[in-house]
Amino acid sequence: MKLAVVGTGYVGLVTGVCLAEIGHHVTCIDIDEMKVEKMKKGIVPIYEPGLSELMNKNMAAGRLSFTSSHNEGFAGAEVVYIAVGTPQKDDGSANLTYVEQVAVTIAKTAKNETIVVTKSTVPVGTNDRLQTIINQNKLSPIKIEVVSNPEFLREGSAIYDSFHGNRIIIGANTEEAAQKIAEINKPFGIFIYKTDIRSAEMIKYASNAFLATKISFINEIANICERVGADVEKVAVGMGLDQRIGSAFLKAGIGYGGSCFPKDTKALIQIAGNVEYDFELLKGVVNVNRKQQRILLNKLRGIVGNFEGKKIAVLGLAFKPDTDDLREAPSILITNELINGGAQVYAYDPIAIENAKKTLNSSIIYVEKLEDALEKADAALILTEWSEIKNMEISLFKTMKNPIVLDGRNCFSLVQMQESNVDYHSVGRRVVRNGIKEVTEW
Ligand code: UDX
Repeated sequence: MKLAVVGTGYVGLVTGVCLAEIGHHVTCIDIDEMKVEKMKKGIVPIYEPGLSELMNKNMAAGRLSFTSSHNEGFAGAEVVYIAVGTPQKDDGSANLTYVEQVAVTIAKTAKNETIVVTKSTVPVGTNDRLQTIINQNKLSPIKIEVVSNPEFLREGSAIYDSFHGNRIIIGANTEEAAQKIAEINKPFGIFIYKTDIRSAEMIKYASNAFLATKISFINEIANICERVGADVEKVAVGMGLDQRIGSAFLKAGIGYGGSCFPKDTKALIQIAGNVEYDFELLKGVVNVNRKQQRILLNKLRGIVGNFEGKKIAVLGLAFKPDTDDLREAPSILITNELINGGAQVYAYDPIAIENAKKTLNSSIIYVEKLEDALEKADAALILTEWSEIKNMEISLFKTMKNPIVLDGRNCFSLVQMQESNVDYHSVGRRVVRNGIKEVTEW
């Protein structure tokens, strides 16, 4: 089938490439002409494992193309996907300007019967609004129907998730439209759940809010574990064995970041507020996450007093491993506070440095090797659980002036750190002091 995808960010580009991979003819449209020129040459504008190979393969097969012209992209397309951004406004609500502009463009450009599929995460009721906008702006009496088809892709595993996700959600007003989108997705071999539009929109927010709740919950348990002498890693294993709870998203740390959880939790609080509902639980989740981002800073202050003149190694900047994305990453707040407190920050990240240079405080010194950050450092903060960090030689910490390690992602086992000469502070576990064998396996 011939399809068009508007917007070539993470969601749009991965969607377009994967739809081409299952045999459709896809044109990806973006108003950024420079970006389109690059993609036409096979250059992927984002870091996403496996995306470049799949994109080039499908371009070579003649199933995938790029354009900055809506007219060209929509020509002959039976389905148009909207995958443009819905950035957060100051009040936490989603900015729908771009999505609405695309709806108007589709209404004014489409020449044949079209299904408009919304991939972007939009507040409940938006698709109905888009349908109205389209109906008002249509130039001819052709049928244009809006369908909600939210994505659940994780950055860094987006290609894998496209082919191995748990479900595809299709929210439609008519069985005919739902069936057509189901047909398009059939080759993915993933369970398809068809529902009404507003429920589909809510499924996306509710899923992300629930996962964020699990994270904030385990982080609070971690903070209590530290105080009562329990080990959150073991607590999470024990909890996860109950199938009603499940083991995923029970990894304690310095809080969630990224393009979805922070934005979607705040947007859902807004959505609830708009209908006079106080979503107290989710407000708690957001507050806990805000607090959790500071725990390493508080611990460090407790150990070294103030940051003035201290060399601090920061290992990992991306909001999670296997991505170069720094959006809402704990590293933003942490490096800012360190620098404002007078510290010299030496930062290492295997992939995200280019983005970090654009996002973080300009006083940060970036290093290409872990050891250069650690050498003569007064303390090291681990902010992302990159495999390069988890698998590093523990002996490298010995080159620090003070081997104090604050691990925000529990990268090392306590037993492992007992063997080292390091003061090791992690999340929700006992402190290992200077290699003194005071930690026992419970
Ligand atoms: C998430 C959802 O998983 C995806 O379905 C949705 O479409 C977009 O948002 P993503 O933001 O790419 O995907 O990352 P994810 O792997 O879910 O992690 C989000 C954040 O939670 C990261 O900052 C991660 O470090 C944190 N996290 C995750 C934890 O702190 N503990 C966990 O147990 C899991």
